[in-house]
Amino acid sequence: MDFNNYFYHHRPVLLKESIENLITDKNGIYVDATFGGGGHSNAILKKLNKRGTLIALDQDKESIKNNLIKDERFHLFHNNFIHIQDILNKNYIEKVSGILVDLGVSSLQIDNPKRGFSYRWNCILDMRMNQESWYSARNVLNECSKKELFHIFREYGEFKNAKNIAEKILKKRLKKQITTTLDLINLFFIKRSFKKKRFFSRLFQSIRIKVNNEINLFKYFLLESSKIILPKGRIAIISYHSIEDRITKYFFKKGVIENQINFEILPFKMIHKKVIKPTLQEIINNPRSRSAKLRIAEKTTQ
Ligand SMILES: C[S@@+](CC[C@H](N)C(=O)[O-])C[C@H]1O[C@@H](n2cnc3c(N)ncnc32)[C@H](O)[C@@H]1O
Repeated sequence: MDFNNYFYHHRPVLLKESIENLITDKNGIYVDATFGGGGHSNAILKKLNKRGTLIALDQDKESIKNNLIKDERFHLFHNNFIHIQDILNKNYIEKVSGILVDLGVSSLQIDNPKRGFSYRWNCILDMRMNQESWYSARNVLNECSKKELFHIFREYGEFKNAKNIAEKILKKRLKKQITTTLDLINLFFIKRSFKKKRFFSRLFQSIRIKVNNEINLFKYFLLESSKIILPKGRIAIISYHSIEDRITKYFFKKGVIENQINFEILPFKMIHKKVIKPTLQEIINNPRSRSAKLRIAEKTTQ
């Protein structure tokens, strides 16, 4: 198995910290809900004994096609993680010992100009993680109302000038549809290169979150995960955005999703009081890890 190839494409983030804390039973059944380039899956398999099992999922067909792991303990499915309970049921699995979720995009996605995730190339705006979905970045930019665009840029991009950004898009699309990354980039004039980079990465990220309905699906997944983890089993969540980290934190600490307390008894307890972040060395080796935050919790209830 040539994992150098994998690491060239996507370097797994917070690998040691997440895997060491996730695995409590080396003969257990684990889920990698976001397979990506397979770095975390590979590390989980290395830790498990012969009797252990790993179920992995990804909604991206290319991630499944690029899989290099050949191991009889490993089973990979092309699906959205919200369907995890169904996948387990179909495989006669009731509960698992642990789940890993590494949110966001993989380098395989963001570094491929054909996928339209990045402002670094002029290409068709796409940003679908699931190539079978009909809803792309072009739909967001040309069809969302002013109110929706404002919400996307305010909430997902944390832009103070969200109204201004939304207005620029509305004005442009009255004349011509926004279809390429350059159409979008040319709407904004930002002088300094570091500001430019920050602005466009947040802008593109906020559109991507909307295209893939990332926040709603993640909330649903958290509720599902509380039903399928064994008592004392664990869940490790790596997030790259403050909204996702806030959702994770409040869910673990208070059982809250959508401002609503969902449990009489808290299903999880946090393993570490503080969030785990990459070391300076990891950030130097892999700058894409810089915004990562890891939270790990243990299942307290049946
Ligand atoms: C950051 S990457 C994971 C990288 C992986 N841990 C590794 O080490 O290579 C995130 C992956 O999750 C997938 N993904 C995101 N949301 C998903 C969802 N709702 N269901 C299934 N896969 C999802 C993306 O397609 C992407 O491949």
